[in-house]
Amino acid sequence: MNKATPTSEWMKSMNEAATIDHRQAAETVQHPQALLELAHGEARQSLLTVHGILEATLPAGELSIYEAGGGSTSFLPLKVLHRAHVTVVDIDEDQIRNNDYAQQAILGDIQTYRFRPNSFDLVICYNVIEHVPDVEAALLHFCESLKPNGMILIGAPNPGSLSGVVTKYSPHWFHVWFYRHVRGDKKAGLPGHAPFPTLFHPLVTLSNLEAFAEQHGLQMIYRKQYESPRYPEMRRRMPAFAALVDAAAKVMNFFLPGKTDVRHGDYHVILRKR
Ligand SMILES: C[S@@+](CC[C@H](N)C(=O)[O-])C[C@H]1O[C@@H](n2cnc3c(N)ncnc32)[C@H](O)[C@@H]1O
Repeated sequence: MNKATPTSEWMKSMNEAATIDHRQAAETVQHPQALLELAHGEARQSLLTVHGILEATLPAGELSIYEAGGGSTSFLPLKVLHRAHVTVVDIDEDQIRNNDYAQQAILGDIQTYRFRPNSFDLVICYNVIEHVPDVEAALLHFCESLKPNGMILIGAPNPGSLSGVVTKYSPHWFHVWFYRHVRGDKKAGLPGHAPFPTLFHPLVTLSNLEAFAEQHGLQMIYRKQYESPRYPEMRRRMPAFAALVDAAAKVMNFFLPGKTDVRHGDYHVILRKR
């Protein structure tokens, strides 16, 4: 493994974390699997829209990207990844070790880790804020680290959806069981593998996140709630079980006000620094 990338004294004083340089490993990466593995459906469609917005909106030339809780999988489009210097911060040693697309991987906590102001064109925090006790601290550090007009891409579960409510009120062992037996992920729950314990800080709610953005000079340029990719996965793997869940969701939607769809288990948001 290469020597750590030089870090300024300013950053060293604020961040007590190990820095590992993955520059050579990243050069061998052909395709991030995240999009390819996503079942066809609303989640995939929204992610493709997000890709289109990023490709059209990010500045030309080399990009500087911060993946907060990046783990070992990127959801960014290849056209963006291929012209970016990516810095990943993750609290899990195994996730950092398995990361093969970032130029710099840092073992650290996104709630406390700080970068020099005006460092990044894009911060991506995907499937992470639901696991973090102090989301506000993490978001404030993201804002600070962004360049003017820089963007934050957040992908997260909707706590008010059927899957959100079940996740919130069920024990962690049930999440591991679901991943292993319904999703068919044999490594679920092993070190460095999902599911990770879920906390659902109030800012994970889309309306609270929108209010936070408004207060902190961020414009919400994209927001989309969509059917959780667990539904198309279940329909493919366990059609009878999926039919039961779909029927239950339809009954709930019938009794809920407005156009609420309890299947809208996840959302994408893109925030832009004004
Ligand atoms: C569900 S995984 C998502 C990983 C990746 N973004 C993805 O979508 O595949 C959640 C990640 O957040 C990381 N994480 C959770 N809390 C964190 C924190 N406070 N600071 C940094 N990383 C954190 C976990 O270690 C894990 O890698």
